[in-house]
Amino acid sequence: MSTILQNDLFIRAALSQQTERPPVWMMRQAGRFMPEYWEIKNKYSFLEMCKTPEIAADVTMLPVDLLGIDAAILFSDILVTAEAMGGDLSFEQGVGPRFSNPVQTKADADRLNVDCIDKLQYVADAIRVIQQRLNGSIPLIGFAGAPFTILSYLIEGGSSKDFKKTKLLLNNEPALAHQILQKIADVTVAYLNMQIDAGVNALQLFDSWALALSWNDYRDFSHHYNKYILANIKRSVPVISFCKGSSVFAPMMVEANPDVISVDWNADLKNIKQALPEGIAVQGNLDPFVLYADKKVIREKIHQLFERMRGENGFIFNLGHGIMPDIPFDNVKYAIEVVKEFRY
Ligand code: CP3
Repeated sequence: MSTILQNDLFIRAALSQQTERPPVWMMRQAGRFMPEYWEIKNKYSFLEMCKTPEIAADVTMLPVDLLGIDAAILFSDILVTAEAMGGDLSFEQGVGPRFSNPVQTKADADRLNVDCIDKLQYVADAIRVIQQRLNGSIPLIGFAGAPFTILSYLIEGGSSKDFKKTKLLLNNEPALAHQILQKIADVTVAYLNMQIDAGVNALQLFDSWALALSWNDYRDFSHHYNKYILANIKRSVPVISFCKGSSVFAPMMVEANPDVISVDWNADLKNIKQALPEGIAVQGNLDPFVLYADKKVIREKIHQLFERMRGENGFIFNLGHGIMPDIPFDNVKYAIEVVKEFRY
């Protein structure tokens, strides 16, 4: 790491070193649950926010300034790589992400452009602006979507309940699926290396929808490419591997050699941790729905998790998945205070 951080709790935990309390950040910590996010969102489209480095930096800094988390995460989206490859991406209110030109044929797959990193330069620019603003206070996490999760958006043309088209492709046309996945993996390697060069202090690979897959399909169509990415990026910063389904897939995720596995809320985190080899940290795994509950309950559930993890090095507090847009801001703030007051 090039900079010396004033608060390096997150990095120490990611490297399985001892910390006096668990570090805390939350997936989707810069988002719609914050009134201040809406003040910006009402003026720009989501993609404009991502593509304008000063605005992306403003949004990244919201939870730093208002919540006091131990790590910032770049404000962007996992789908920007797919857009750079040729996907016609838009985000519609209430609909979510949409590709108007979903990949349907071999010709569509052939057209996906791997040589597209120049188009993502705005992300490197945003990282530099954010690092100036953070000024060494806390680490900045960069990220990318994992190939399987990105593939699912390219095939379905947006979000999906059951990933029917994606699974049909995996089953009927595995060679075509592999061709697309390899292209996404190659872009992701270049993209993450670009983020490292621009100065992120850690990386997270989001494989949100891996949960949809069987064990064998996860190995062939997801894990294989995540492993390729982790083996081919510069490993100068800690790497977190996230998937919904990690409760099941953690033993295989280990083979990709991440520094941290981010665990969904289904598993007992201590059981997962103890089954991992020495030196792999865990991140997680409060059910985000707890943050709708009374503060007393929020406190109890966080303490329950911490009591379970007492004595374990290599634990980063987070949610099992992202903060929902209608979770009360006050509850998120309270949860972070509870974490920060705790001592091992
Ligand atoms: O975590 C953060 O605060 C950093 C920024 C970030 C966003 N998306 C901002 C965002 C990150 C890390 C992501 C990752 C992402 N994007 C994932 C993986 C994490 C996960 O939740 O599983 C996925 C699957 C996406 C794809 C995506 N982007 C969806 C499905 C949606 C719409 C629905 C939803 O869940 O919000 C988005 C839009 C999006 N990405 C918003 C934000 C703040 C909302 C945009 C808006 O204001 O309308």
